[in-house]
Amino acid sequence: MAEASAAKPFYSALLLAFVCSLLVAGAAVKLRPLQEANRLLDQKKNILYAAGLYREGKSVEELFASIETRVVELASGRYVPAEEIDPASYRQLKAALREDGGHPLDSKVDIAGMRRLEKYSLVYLVKHGEQLEQIILPVRGKGLWSTMYAYVAVAGDLSTIRGVSFYEHGETPGLGGEIENRRWNEGWQGKRLYNPEGEMELKVIKGKVVASGDQAFYQIDGLSGATLTSKGVSNLLEFWFGDHGFKPYFRQLQKRDNSNG
Ligand SMILES: Cc1cc2nc3c(=O)[nH]c(=O)nc-3n(C[C@H](O)[C@H](O)[C@H](O)COP(=O)(O)O)c2cc1C
Repeated sequence: MAEASAAKPFYSALLLAFVCSLLVAGAAVKLRPLQEANRLLDQKKNILYAAGLYREGKSVEELFASIETRVVELASGRYVPAEEIDPASYRQLKAALREDGGHPLDSKVDIAGMRRLEKYSLVYLVKHGEQLEQIILPVRGKGLWSTMYAYVAVAGDLSTIRGVSFYEHGETPGLGGEIENRRWNEGWQGKRLYNPEGEMELKVIKGKVVASGDQAFYQIDGLSGATLTSKGVSNLLEFWFGDHGFKPYFRQLQKRDNSNG
C-alpha cells in the first residue's frame, strides 16, 4: 500500500508529461499550414520590396498579383512549362537537396559556398504589357557565420540593379547583419552587373564607393567591420550572375528579344 502511494507522484508526472507532449505535438501539426502561409507571405513581401513595389498598408497578395512566377532550368536558361513543374508548389531549396532535383557543386565552382545547386529556379517577372520591366531572382551564399538569402531585382536590360532584399541570414546584428539595412540596400539601385564586354563585374568593395570613379557603376559600399560578410555578398553575386547561375537564362531572354525585334 505504502509502495503504491510512493509511486503515485511519479505516475502522475508521467501522465502529465504525456498529455503535455500530445498537446504540443497537436499544436505543432495544427499550426504548420499557418506557418507555411506566413512564410509564403513574407517571401512575397521581400520579392515586392526588392522590386520597389512594396507599399506599406497595402495587401501583399494584391500587390503580388501583378508578378508572374516562372520556373527556369538553370543549365539551359529555358522556361519549364507549368504542367511539368508548378511554380506555385515548387520548393527550390528542398529540391537542391534531392538527388533528382539538384547536384553537388565542385569546390572550384562553388564560390558562394552552397555545396549543392538545384536544377530549376523560380524567377519572378514584372511586365508592362509584353515588355519585361524587371526580373526578381532568388540568390544565396555563405557569409561569415551563415547562408545569406536574398532577392535581387534586375531591370529589363538584364544588367541594371533595381533593388535587393536580404531576408534570412545569421550574420551579426550591427556588423554583417547590416545587409538588411534598407539604406544600404538603396545603394544597390542603378548599379550594373555586367561591363560592356558582358563580364560580371559588380562587387561589394572595402570602404565607400567614389561616386565619380569610372568603376562606380560596378561597386557597392562595403559594410564597415564586416569585410567577410561583404566578401560573401560579392561571391554570391559572382556565382548567381555567372555561367552556373542566371547567365544562361539571360542569354535565352536576349535571344528571344533579338528574334522578336
Ligand atoms: C563578435 C563578433 C562578431 C562579428 N561578426 C561579423 C560579421 O557578421 N561579419 C563580418 O564580416 N565580420 C564580423 N566580425 C569581424 C570579423 O571577425 C573580422 O574581423 C572582420 O570581418 C574584418 O573586417 P574589417 O576589416 O572591416 O574590420 C565579427 C567579430 C566579432 C568579434
